Order: sequence, then structure tokens, then C-alpha cells
Amino acid sequence: MSSGASFYITTPIFYPSDVPHIGHGYTEVAADVLARWHRQAGDDTWLLTGTDEHGQKMLRTASANDMTPREWADKLVESSWLPLLDTLDIANDDFIRTTQQRHETSAQAFLTKLHDTGFIYTGDYEGFYCVGCEEYKQPSELVEGTGPFEGQRVCAIHSKPVELLHERNYFFRMSDFQQRLLALYEERPDFVQPESARNEVVSFVTQGLADLSISRSTFDWGIEVPWDPEHVVYVWFDALLNYITAIGYGTDDERFARRWPGVQLVGKDILRFHAVIWPAMLMAAGLAVPKHVFAHGWLLVGGEKMSKSKLTGIAPEQITDVFGSDAFRYYFLRAITFGQDGSFSWEDLSARYQAELANGFGNLASRVVAMVTRYFDGALPEPAEYEAADSAIQETVAAAVRDADAAMERFAIHEALAAVWTVVEELNGYITAQEPWVLAKDPERRARLGTVLYTAAEGLRALAVLLSPVLTRATPKLWTALGAEAGLGPLADQPLRDAGTWGQLRPGSTVSPLEALFPRIEQEATQTVGAGA
Ligand code: ME8
Ligand code: MG
Repeated sequence: MSSGASFYITTPIFYPSDVPHIGHGYTEVAADVLARWHRQAGDDTWLLTGTDEHGQKMLRTASANDMTPREWADKLVESSWLPLLDTLDIANDDFIRTTQQRHETSAQAFLTKLHDTGFIYTGDYEGFYCVGCEEYKQPSELVEGTGPFEGQRVCAIHSKPVELLHERNYFFRMSDFQQRLLALYEERPDFVQPESARNEVVSFVTQGLADLSISRSTFDWGIEVPWDPEHVVYVWFDALLNYITAIGYGTDDERFARRWPGVQLVGKDILRFHAVIWPAMLMAAGLAVPKHVFAHGWLLVGGEKMSKSKLTGIAPEQITDVFGSDAFRYYFLRAITFGQDGSFSWEDLSARYQAELANGFGNLASRVVAMVTRYFDGALPEPAEYEAADSAIQETVAAAVRDADAAMERFAIHEALAAVWTVVEELNGYITAQEPWVLAKDPERRARLGTVLYTAAEGLRALAVLLSPVLTRATPKLWTALGAEAGLGPLADQPLRDAGTWGQLRPGSTVSPLEALFPRIEQEATQTVGAGA
């Protein structure tokens, strides 16, 4: 058990109505990298992900496939959503499904509390409902349909017609929370991130908040409303609660106190649910609001949000089968400013794989290890006197650790990676300038050769630690090749924030040859895959 600060981070719980695409993979990877970073830094870390299994979208997809929603969810979770976590090497601590008893019991306890304290009342509602969003839409949020839906008003996100519903439901007094929410955004400017997301939320809430219909009585696929079995809980009200039901809300106070409040990482499509409805629900229940709600951008295809409903989804395995999970994890977090939209392209992925992972990092590692093997028989040399060029590397490493950690603290994952990459670049320049292969020819410069190779190996030691949250497959291989385990213990035990402390590798450690960390990808393979996209 860790004694550090609590870091509890969640992904959205995804609808298992369909199989995952790289947009879902992107969220999983970002959350996992943040969690692994904090875990490696000694923080008391917990990563939660899962599936959102109630509601009409699930009900309809299941019946279209001649299954019960429960059967459909079981099938998709087992065959696609859990395997996604292996495909991308996600080290989640828990996986919640909203059909689990633990969730239903705890969610009902929450509802009872709100009902008992007067935040829930009965009312009538008529409005346009989008099943894709599982949300009532204002007329102003609809757009003109095209193609088969020409002449109809459709959901701006799903481009499909909405349905006019009239129901007598239970309502949550969300309008009571407008002022408290605005005060929250004001007092804690980093509550909603990035800035663009915060601005959107502030202007939305400033316009006023309506009460929220939180139950349905026209179908029964959902959590029963505890005081009225004729109703099931609205799927979003049910789903948002997963962030607290999974950590023991209402059932395990100690566990709940240890984890909550946490960080909710979401895509910007579901920002309002998380930055408006969710904190209002928590305030009503007298609970702390999240530490942060961070909304990342969309992966775009042809300028539009990649989506299964529009048939533009790319399966994560299409990328990992060719490039591996490390490349997936690295690419999306490096190439896209976290918090903004980004366009995926096979050409860009392939170019960065070759230039940054294979040539930049992989070659550096193989060359340094090969030179220690050749010139020192695989025994890491002792450094002699450090010169200015060596000290510059030490400073680069120390600054990279500080800058990357500060960037991760701000959820600027792309900046953290850029900071770490300064070490890759400086070390490559250092090797070129120091020319160890020239030093090796001169017996009188043997001490200098030792210092240069020790410096390079120490830089790699720091890189192995700093990149371990991202390159989960390559870094343990590098750690083994450096012979670091004997002196320093397993890679996973290295305190990340101390990675910049110089001189951790023990001279004399046995360095062993390293296979190519990022092997050449046959051009043909990338072209075939590229053509299919
Ligand atoms: O909304 N680019 O589930 P969902 C980036 N069940 N991320 C994307 C993306 C894209 N093109 N497409 C999807 C739901 N995502 C609810 C959530 S939470 C209490 C309930 C990711 O299956 C992104 O994280 O529609 C987005 O917010 C999420 O998938 C939506 O997943
Ligand atoms: Mg969606």
C-alpha cells in the first residue's frame, strides 16, 4: 500500500452497445498514463473504468440482435471491452458494470438520500429525446437532417432524428444549484479543464438551469427507483454515480474516504453531464465535488468526430497489430495537444514511429548498450571526472523530470512527453559529439570513454523510468539490458520523481544486448492498413 497523496482517476463508462474504436482507446490510454505516472511517483493511485449498461440505446441494440440487454452487455464486455484493456496494456484497478449489484445498491442509497432530503419531486415533461445521446434536447440544439432524414430536425451529434416524449417522471432540483455551480467555477478555475471547456460550461450555466428528469416509466431496463418500482432511473443519473459506487459510497466509508474526491477524465462530448449535472448531484448529497473534470478533444476523421454510429470507427487492434501497444500509447498522447481535437493519420503515425520511437529512442538504447558490451565486456564502466558536456546531460535529465511532472499535474500529457524527449534528443547529440567509437581506439582515453558511456547509460536509466508509464513494453526490456535490476530493483519500484537524481546505476553492473525496441515495420504492412482506413 502506498502512503502518498490520493490520486483517483476515472474514464467514462462506455456503452457496450457496440465495439470500441480508437476514440475509446485514446481515453483509456490517457487515463492509464496519468495513473501509472502517479503510481510510479508513489501516490495512492486508483484507476477505474467500466461499462454503462442501462438505457434505451442498450435496450434497442440488444433487441435488434434478438438478445436481452443483459445478454448483449455480457457478450460485448467479454468479447470486446475487457480485451481492449489487454490490447492497450491498461493497468486499471477496477472495472465497474452498472448492472452489478454493488452499483445498484449504492446508487439506490444515493437516490433515497436525495428523495429524503427533498431534492426530488414528481412532474411532467415533454421534449425531444436523442437515444444516441440518451438526453433531452432543446429545439435550439437540433439541426436540419440530411440524406434519409432530410426535412427532419436531427441531433447535431448523431445526425439522427429525435423522438418527442411525454412522461410523468421524477425530477431532480438541479435549478437550485446554479449559483453554487457558478461560485465553484469561479473559486476553482481549474475545476473544469481545459480553459475552453471551462468557458463553455460557465456560459451554459449562466443562462440558467432547468430541473432534470431522472426516471422513466415506459421501459424497465434500469435501476428501480427505490420508492416507486414503476420507474427506473434515467441512465445518465445512474451512470454518473459509478464514480462513487465503485469506491464504496454508502457501503464502505473508509474506502470511500480514502479515494474521494477524484478526477473525472472524459471526452468533450459529455462535458456538461460531468461539469454541471454531476457536481450538482454531489452537492445535493452533501458530498465533495471532483478535484477536476478534464475534457479531452475528439479524434477526427475527415474533420468529423470519429464514431461507430457514423461508421468511421477504427478498431484499436488495427494499429496495435502492426505497430504494437507502445506505439499506440505514445502516438496519440504525443501528437495531439491533450484537450484539443486531433486528426488521426496512418502516415503521421508511421512517420513518428520511425523517427521518434525507432530512430530516436530505440536506436539510442541499442547503440549505448552495444558499446558497453563491446568496449567494456558488458560491465558498466565507472565514470571518471565529469566535463561540461556530461554535466549538461545531468541537468537536462533533472529538468526533464521536473518539467514532465509539472506538466502531468496540469494534465498536459503532450508537454510531459515533449519534456522527456529532450533527454532523447540531447543524448543523441551527446553521443554524436563525444564519438565514443573514436575514444575507444585510444587506450589513453579509456577513462573518458568510461565516463561517456556511463553518462549515456544513466540517461537511459532515467528514460526507462520516465517513459515506463507510456512505453510499458519497451522500458522493462531496457531496464533488463542496463542490468539495473540487480542494484536498483524492479523498474516498477523506481520513484519517478527521483529519476533525475544522478548516479543511480552501479558501475560493474552487467549490461546485456538489447533486441530492437521498435523494429522496422514493413512498408507494405502500413500501406495495406492505410488503404483500409
Ligand atoms: O457517452 N475521440 O459513452 P460512449 C475521442 N456511457 N474520444 C472519443 C471519441 C472520439 N472520436 N469517441 C468516443 C457515453 N470517445 C456514456 C458515458 S460516463 C458516466 C457515461 C470516448 O460509449 C470519449 O471518452 O458514447 C467519450 O467521452 C466517450 O468515448 C463516450 O463513450
Ligand atoms: Mg457516445
